[in-house]
Amino acid sequence: MNQTVVSLRDRQYSVYFQNDMKHGENWIRHHVQRQILIITNAEVANLFLEKFVRTLPSTHVVETYYVPDGEQAKSLTHYEAIIKYLIENHYHRDTTLIGLGGGVIGDLTGFVAATYCRGVPYIHIPTTLLAQVDSSIGGKTGINHVLGKNMMGAVYQPTAVGIFYEVLLTLPERAYIAGLAEVVKYGLIQDAHFFEWIEQNTHKIRARDQVALMYLIQHCCEIKAGIVAQDEHDHGVRRLLNFGHTFGHALEAASEYSLYLHGEAVSLGMVMASRMSNELGYLSSSECLRIEQLLINLSLPVKLFEPISIRPLRDLMARDKKNSSTDPCFILLDGIGKAKLVYKVSSNLINKVVISCHESALVD
Ligand SMILES: NC(=O)c1ccc[n+]([C@@H]2O[C@H](COP(=O)([O-])OP(=O)(O)OC[C@H]3O[C@@H](n4cnc5c(N)ncnc54)[C@H](O)[C@@H]3O)[C@@H](O)[C@H]2O)c1
Repeated sequence: MNQTVVSLRDRQYSVYFQNDMKHGENWIRHHVQRQILIITNAEVANLFLEKFVRTLPSTHVVETYYVPDGEQAKSLTHYEAIIKYLIENHYHRDTTLIGLGGGVIGDLTGFVAATYCRGVPYIHIPTTLLAQVDSSIGGKTGINHVLGKNMMGAVYQPTAVGIFYEVLLTLPERAYIAGLAEVVKYGLIQDAHFFEWIEQNTHKIRARDQVALMYLIQHCCEIKAGIVAQDEHDHGVRRLLNFGHTFGHALEAASEYSLYLHGEAVSLGMVMASRMSNELGYLSSSECLRIEQLLINLSLPVKLFEPISIRPLRDLMARDKKNSSTDPCFILLDGIGKAKLVYKVSSNLINKVVISCHESALVD
């Protein structure tokens, strides 16, 4: 069994990589307490819950809590309902929460774990590509507010993460492709060789070739673990992981989380941020085209799905958590494989790159 260790200043935890979920019993029993609550949704539960429960010690008390499918589950309403369930059903500090699902389930479960009884342990079993390569590692947990994405949350690390490749076979194509946006992001912000590898292996990646996927997922997890180890609380290098997300989060919130999957919004955000990097002279036009070509080859969006009003989008960006004032902070590229933070970008330039992604974007 392969594993990557996320080493933090005062503790560490493992990300386990296995193909078949049934082998999870080798490590899960070392990380769970007496009372276990699995948080999942009906889609994921129908596919994996029965098999997953068999990996847990039969001596433990195991219950399941269901939330609705989709981004709507990351809300105060569902957060509050889970806390109520935990209190009413006498869950104490000897509880382990397990998030079985994609990034939505992981972010929500982690936030409940961070706050219930001032913190109980949690494990994430990420079942989407996006959650396997990104959201399950690093302890960023949280829920959305209508005024902004992930506006309530905590950095609270899991006890362990279990990645099973087999779960990706059932993932709908759209969700699978969306996860590839975060994969491309790693190449762009810090690993030009990996970017090149993705370019050369597009067909295998699209076909979910197991060997290619095993390499891709472990490599992304190692990059993420390395960045989190350097900057757990997001004060420095970790912010670069938000490449494409300043635009992306605003696009998601502006469309009330219903038009774009997170990865699709990030793909568009990366196009806008790359074009902005090009406009400011940090990224050559040929590199910019190369990035967009890779996104197209992976079937990721490079054009907005619908016209958009830019002023509300700019207002949303001004509320982004990364900002130090009301100036949006952008992560831009200094060439493929190197990212940097840039403040003080003119409104005109923001308008220009958004308009470039949809001929009928409205400035006001
Ligand atoms: N915490 C972080 O560091 C971090 C990083 C990136 C993204 N995120 C968050 O992650 C969320 C997006 O996560 P996501 O893309 O995984 O979306 P998701 O959790 O909504 O999952 C996508 C869809 O796939 C279904 N599904 C999940 N696994 C499946 C499987 N194996 N087979 C079939 N269907 C399956 C889900 O039910 C859902 O309908 C966003 O809220 C985003 O903000 C968090």
